[in-house]
Amino acid sequence: MLSGSFGEFLRARIRREVVSASGRVVATQIRDIEDVIDRFGRQGYVADRALATAIYLLVRLGKPLLIEGHAGVGKTEAAKALAAMLETDLIRLQCYEGLDLHSAVYEWNYQKQLLAIKIQEGSDKTVEEKENYVFGSNFLLKRPLLQSILSEEQAPVLLIDEIDRADEAFEAFLLELLAEFQITIPELGTIQAKKAPHVVLTSNSSRELSDALKRRCLYHWIDYPDLQKELEIVRARLPEIRQGLSSDVVRFIHILRGMDLSKPPGVAETLDLSRSLCLLEKTNLDPEAAQETLGCILKSADDLSKVRSEGVGKLLSRSRGRE
Ligand SMILES: Nc1ncnc2c1ncn2[C@@H]1O[C@H](COP(=O)(O)OP(=O)(O)O)[C@@H](O)[C@H]1O
Ligand SMILES: [Mg+2]
Repeated sequence: MLSGSFGEFLRARIRREVVSASGRVVATQIRDIEDVIDRFGRQGYVADRALATAIYLLVRLGKPLLIEGHAGVGKTEAAKALAAMLETDLIRLQCYEGLDLHSAVYEWNYQKQLLAIKIQEGSDKTVEEKENYVFGSNFLLKRPLLQSILSEEQAPVLLIDEIDRADEAFEAFLLELLAEFQITIPELGTIQAKKAPHVVLTSNSSRELSDALKRRCLYHWIDYPDLQKELEIVRARLPEIRQGLSSDVVRFIHILRGMDLSKPPGVAETLDLSRSLCLLEKTNLDPEAAQETLGCILKSADDLSKVRSEGVGKLLSRSRGRE
């Protein structure tokens, strides 16, 4: 163990080299895929090997990762766990129909610009100088995508959530950012990322994404978990739950997922139902308790009537393998 000022000097030098060799400090600290599984586990996120491999490659290759899957299977949470694992900021852009560059990238602060123009009225600056001043970075409102490439300290995680909700034109705009980690602002020119962000895109597959976007990303599909994995998730999120109850819930949810519902319950619903039953002090899922809490897991009138007409008691028996 080195000590004293020479030791400090060497350690600082090694640290600098680690940073400059990879461009990211933490990237070099993630040992392998097992390490990702462990670190996600410490955040309460149950990652299987396939997801951990995708995350590992995202960090080590510096390539964006597109995660697709049904609603409520843990896509958004995976990006949050990644930021927590890297001990870095999470910058989130929630996509929606009509999302434009002003909300996603930057906007000029018009009020401040007008005020500056007024203040400068008497000054002897040339028109060009005044123009350059009011279109300077002081007047720029930085939205998530721009923020993500301006980080000086440590590369943040940029989560572009539910990209399938945004228009195709917006998707096309993202290509430059995803391939080059740069953004072009007409009045300022091209801004290159100082620290390339770790980019996670998620999609609920409501529409097919363009080949150009997919080509720039690594891809991972999160399926509904099997019984064993979903039990692990419930235990990770609700350590206080009784084993019998969590097992009842997960089996029941799996039967519902096989029923061709319009909105099959995701892991989010499994956790909501488990939490509700704990709150209601139920020790197991009997037909009465299931009937009372159907609203935690089914979110449409059609699905509710389908399940009721099938018979909650019958579905529960089936989930326990008694029918
Ligand atoms: N593998 C997992 N480990 C731990 N929690 C999970 C896992 N998958 C899903 N969850 C939980 O399920 C809920 C829904 O996840 P979320 O990421 O919001 O779903 P999505 O973005 O796919 O719609 C969250 O509360 C999340 O914590
Ligand atoms: Mg989500």
